[in-house]
Amino acid sequence: MAKGLDVGTMNILSAQQDGNDTVFVQQRNSFVEIDYSDMAEQMLSRSEVLHIRKDDKVYVVGDDALNFANIFNRETRRPMQDGILSSDEKSAIPMMKLIIEQVIGEPDRPGEKLYFSTPADPIDTDLSTLYHQKTIESFLGDMGYDAEPINEGMAVVYSELADNSFTGLGISFGAGMTNVCLSYYAVPVMKFSVARGGDWIDEQAAQATGTPVDKVTSIKEEDFELDFETDVGGVEGALSIYYENLLDYVIDLIVEEVDEEDVEEGLDVPVVVTGGTSSPDGFEALFRDHLEDANIPFSISGVSHADEPLYSVARGGLVAARSDEQEAESADAEGEAAAADE
Ligand SMILES: Nc1ncnc2c1ncn2[C@@H]1O[C@H](COP(=O)(O)OP(=O)(O)OP(=O)(O)O)[C@@H](O)[C@H]1O
Ligand SMILES: [Mg+2]
Repeated sequence: MAKGLDVGTMNILSAQQDGNDTVFVQQRNSFVEIDYSDMAEQMLSRSEVLHIRKDDKVYVVGDDALNFANIFNRETRRPMQDGILSSDEKSAIPMMKLIIEQVIGEPDRPGEKLYFSTPADPIDTDLSTLYHQKTIESFLGDMGYDAEPINEGMAVVYSELADNSFTGLGISFGAGMTNVCLSYYAVPVMKFSVARGGDWIDEQAAQATGTPVDKVTSIKEEDFELDFETDVGGVEGALSIYYENLLDYVIDLIVEEVDEEDVEEGLDVPVVVTGGTSSPDGFEALFRDHLEDANIPFSISGVSHADEPLYSVARGGLVAARSDEQEAESADAEGEAAAADE
């Protein structure tokens, strides 16, 4: 077997194959700290609540963090920010370790292949992704996995562009970041990230309208559409403005990077957009319109939207891990056949 793992600023997901189905396990990348004395013992002993007890504190981790935060009137905290481990959050590593262990489980044999997503270095901040990547890699290794990083944009290409020989532009609009990768026959020819995504949209819209960020996020996730018909002056209007601004920002940077990387001009490639931030109705059409207006030096054969935007990256990791595993098996089989011939 083999697994894919999407390590995201808001969501952590695993993907694995079960017969013809791909099975996903998902947790929020979030936790809340509560005094042990406040917490009724039986709340924790509910076996499915992920938690760590440390001295007189209890940390409730993953999907349950938000419920517990509401009950105890606490704020949730996030181990990652802008696509990588948060430097402001000293408890980040043990929290993420617990979430990752829960979503991937034990390896089914020592050295099971696993590909985990990692962002490209952002071009608009001086953040480096190396420490983040090496930290995740090391605890996956400690768990017994043969873990390898896969660029998040490349994972989108593996997941969504198999029918096009893994050629095209994959873009993942996440919470902390947007990741872009241009792949040519499964070889990444240009990849970068920007440290803006859904969190940035929420923060900007919250600031502009004087609304708490959590409220903005829930309005956005509930029934917000990018139709530009509603709510001038309200939260939805502000969300639309910052959505459009993010799209333009990303498209401008694609044009710049393509120029810099000297990407071959004769290309004609499809574009796939995915990630939680691409969810609202109207996103795909808006992106297509703005891309058409941009001066991209190669031709775009079409823009599509992943069917399951939250699952693309984990699925792409799984595709990469399975293909590696199959190669290793056929190399073994050839080796055995050669040995038998001797
Ligand atoms: N239905 C929805 N409508 C609008 N936005 C949504 C919806 N569902 C999720 N989101 C937003 O998508 C983002 C999370 O997406 P995703 O899980 O792809 O990010 P991530 O992988 O955790 O982050 P990153 O890749 O940046 O590290 C959040 O900003 C969330 O608010
Ligand atoms: Mg992501």
